Amino acid sequence: MAINVVILAAGKGTRMKSAKPKVLHKIAGLPMLEHVVRTAESLEARKISIVFGHGGDQVKAYFKDHTNAEIIDWVEQKEQLGTGHAVHQAMPTVDVHDQVLILYGDVPLIKQETLMELLEKSLGGVGLLTVELSNPAGYGRILRDDEGAVVGIVEQKDASEKQLKITEVNTGILTMSASLLNQWLPKLGNSNSQGEYYLTDLIAMAFEDGVEIFTSQPKDAVEVEGVNDRRQLAIIERAYQRDAVESLLKQGVSFTDIDRADIRGKIEVGEDIEIDFNILLEGNVSLGSGVNIGPNCCIKNSTIGDNVIIKANSIIEDALIAANCEVGPFARIRPGTEMAKGAKVGNFVETKKSIIGEGSKVSHLTYIGDAIIGKNVNVGAGTITCNYDGVNKSQTTIGDGAFIGSNSSLVAPVSIGPGATIGAGSTIGKNTPDNKLTLTRSKQVTIEGWQRPTKKK
Ligand code: UD1
Ligand code: CA
Repeated sequence: MAINVVILAAGKGTRMKSAKPKVLHKIAGLPMLEHVVRTAESLEARKISIVFGHGGDQVKAYFKDHTNAEIIDWVEQKEQLGTGHAVHQAMPTVDVHDQVLILYGDVPLIKQETLMELLEKSLGGVGLLTVELSNPAGYGRILRDDEGAVVGIVEQKDASEKQLKITEVNTGILTMSASLLNQWLPKLGNSNSQGEYYLTDLIAMAFEDGVEIFTSQPKDAVEVEGVNDRRQLAIIERAYQRDAVESLLKQGVSFTDIDRADIRGKIEVGEDIEIDFNILLEGNVSLGSGVNIGPNCCIKNSTIGDNVIIKANSIIEDALIAANCEVGPFARIRPGTEMAKGAKVGNFVETKKSIIGEGSKVSHLTYIGDAIIGKNVNVGAGTITCNYDGVNKSQTTIGDGAFIGSNSSLVAPVSIGPGATIGAGSTIGKNTPDNKLTLTRSKQVTIEGWQRPTKKK
């Protein structure tokens, strides 16, 4: 049976104190709703119906460029009359033959495995995800009969003293066929303490109609925690990070401090990777075996080869760094940088859209932009590729084995021949020949008889 996921996201989120809709607030760099949408996609949902209310335009605008945007149906719930009403609004978008799974835009950590188990367990009936909480305050309580069968859910505000003592609660996540929903949703009433159409009332209907109700639980209660304020958002963020780090530990990565690592994306790793404190890994990052990363580094959308050493305070983005390279400390590797095997970029060096050939070294205080550097080149301290004339960007090419003296300006477009040596302090605007020394330097003079000025009376 095909799955149609319905995501409830119409809540106002008043307690966030924000102009932004609650579900666009981020966990690990991605809106909460996107986490839920991605989980829905991982279940191979045929369709995702998102029920929105407040700030709908902002939410829709965010998802306009989503890769799977065509499977998302947007359903407006103008007035928030309850969770049952919200799902009812979505039903016209749902194929009558589909299995419906109800998720929440503000419950971002729910895992695919948990939902798979629920879906598999509850075929033909109703599947309810429940959780045991030592403090169940605020949640709907699961009512069971003497045989342990679920007979209904009572909301906190409608519960008796005795029912309030029940510690098994409703997570809100449930699944059943579209045909059962179509049968029961129109029968929902709102005569309860909140005057709302409760989705939870469907459980008693299922029991009365003799439809089996299955329950399952998440591995960790944090999976079903919702976010209502920024404190909860921060707590959920830490829970996400702990989990992400845990998974890397299992794959052979060591962290000096598991509480000072942030993962915002998909990280592929080899073995024996060592990561010092304060690391941010973002987007798609691949770390080869034996990589060693010093403190305070940020790596985004980059591939780092085996045995690369990244020293403290380095920032790497959209770069390819081959095996045995060395980066930093304090290096800024900008988009389009490719370092070939064994290359070295040292402190206070910025690179952009450049290839740094095998074994080449750019060790100190240098800007390399729009450049192609061959093998075994040595770029001296303070070298600048002058790639921008205020209008256009131009390229610098440096041949294999060239040696660029310190404090040189290479005014692009310009080409330095293989084996060429550039004298320190030169400003090179014309191509230089192979294997020769080229320099632009005014002659050093010493003024005889010169004296330092003295203070005027
Ligand atoms: C709901 C459940 C409760 C469960 C709890 C888990 C009902 C009646 N109660 O209670 O049993 O323990 O969740 O957190 O379902 N929403 C809409 N439209 C509406 C109302 C709500 O989209 O008209 C969305 C909200 O944005 C929110 C979610 O549904 O994401 C839950 O709504 P909320 O009002 O917070 O329900 P609870 O009272 O917490
Ligand atoms: Ca709630």
